[in-house]
Amino acid sequence: MKIIASLLIGYLIGCFQSAYIISRIKGRLDIRKYGSGNAGTTNVIRVMGWKAGIITFFMDVFKAAIGVLICSLIFDDILMGYYAGVGVVIGHNWPVFLGFRGGKGIAATIGLLTVVDIKIGLIVIGIMALVIFISRYVSLGSILMAISIPILMAIFYTDRPQYIVLGVILMIFALYNHRANIKRLLNGTENKLGHKKNLSE
Ligand code: G3P
Repeated sequence: MKIIASLLIGYLIGCFQSAYIISRIKGRLDIRKYGSGNAGTTNVIRVMGWKAGIITFFMDVFKAAIGVLICSLIFDDILMGYYAGVGVVIGHNWPVFLGFRGGKGIAATIGLLTVVDIKIGLIVIGIMALVIFISRYVSLGSILMAISIPILMAIFYTDRPQYIVLGVILMIFALYNHRANIKRLLNGTENKLGHKKNLSE
């Protein structure tokens, strides 16, 4: 019951789709019809510029952090916060109010991990930043960051299987949502950071 409540509370918070709202208000457009079609930070940077992208990123990190904090406090259990964080990612990726078409959940994942365990949050941020810095592919950074989550959970929470299982779930969400990016990375057509693109794919 606590788990379902946490997932639901998280889901509703996650449905606050920052990229969509910012693109509607600031750009008078639906971000899902431009660039990669993703309602997330990278695509907002690509289509609307850095300022709007950075605001999107912090709003998504923040909403996940809020979801984790709220349920941790309500149930006095950080694990319920972790479930709520997973709920935020689900709401962000598949928002009921937007026809279940949202983002890829990377900023929200970073936000939730940072509150669940600050050292894991910092490690995944470091991995992602390093990969992006070297390759200029945000998607590759996101993918490798996602793969590192269950590994880090297995290292730091060896005796807490739920932490590892939720880490596997977060990884699966991210890999599933990056399936088009993975194809583009493999055939050499993925967009690099800074490359502007305005047409829908
Ligand atoms: O976080 C999303 C990023 O990894 C890829 O975004 O728009 O290039 O598909 P995009």
